[in-house]
Amino acid sequence: MTFAPHALAIPSQRQCYRMMAVMEMMPHIAAHSIQVCRVAVWLCQALEAAGRARLNLELVRAGGLLHDITKTRSFTTGEDHAQSGQVYLTRQGFGEVGSLVAQHVVLAAFDPEAPPNEAELINYADKRVMHDRIVSMPRRMADILARYGTSAQRRDRLRRLWQETERLEAKLFAGLGPDPEQVEEVLGPEGLAAALQEFGGCLQAAAGPVSGG
Ligand SMILES: [Fe+2]
Repeated sequence: MTFAPHALAIPSQRQCYRMMAVMEMMPHIAAHSIQVCRVAVWLCQALEAAGRARLNLELVRAGGLLHDITKTRSFTTGEDHAQSGQVYLTRQGFGEVGSLVAQHVVLAAFDPEAPPNEAELINYADKRVMHDRIVSMPRRMADILARYGTSAQRRDRLRRLWQETERLEAKLFAGLGPDPEQVEEVLGPEGLAAALQEFGGCLQAAAGPVSGG
């Protein structure tokens, strides 16, 4: 058997849903992940259409769905879910997706001049989705500060992270057409409802006898 040297192992949407079920992802985290996926996929398609980047749509979809794959477990264990998500996915054979998951809180590197990449899309999309709602960056920042800014040191770190995300937003939307405030309007609520329904169906199937595929 031979393998293409640069072929990436990327789980299908169905495989992502099954991993979410296996990891017993809480329903609100699943809804958040599905919404992050929608934002990231939309951005991916918009950037491609604008000729701004060549991106792997399947990688973006999987990264969005799986970025919080170990978060439910982390509530019990206290583990760093960005790191442990990478470990989990790498062990499943999906190292490239794992690399995106590792960077969904903090990017490993940021070059404002380089073409947008998949890790940036997941990192940014996560910062536009509060629970399962698409919100502005300032709204999400207020939420993150309230939830995680438990000390002056943590608040400082979050503010620095936010400044970096503002630079990322400026980079992603430069010459794109729609501006950041239009994302919610462009995506609308119907697509999320349909995606949640599809996910629910997959969970029911996963609860039944395991069959291949
Ligand atoms: Fe997360």
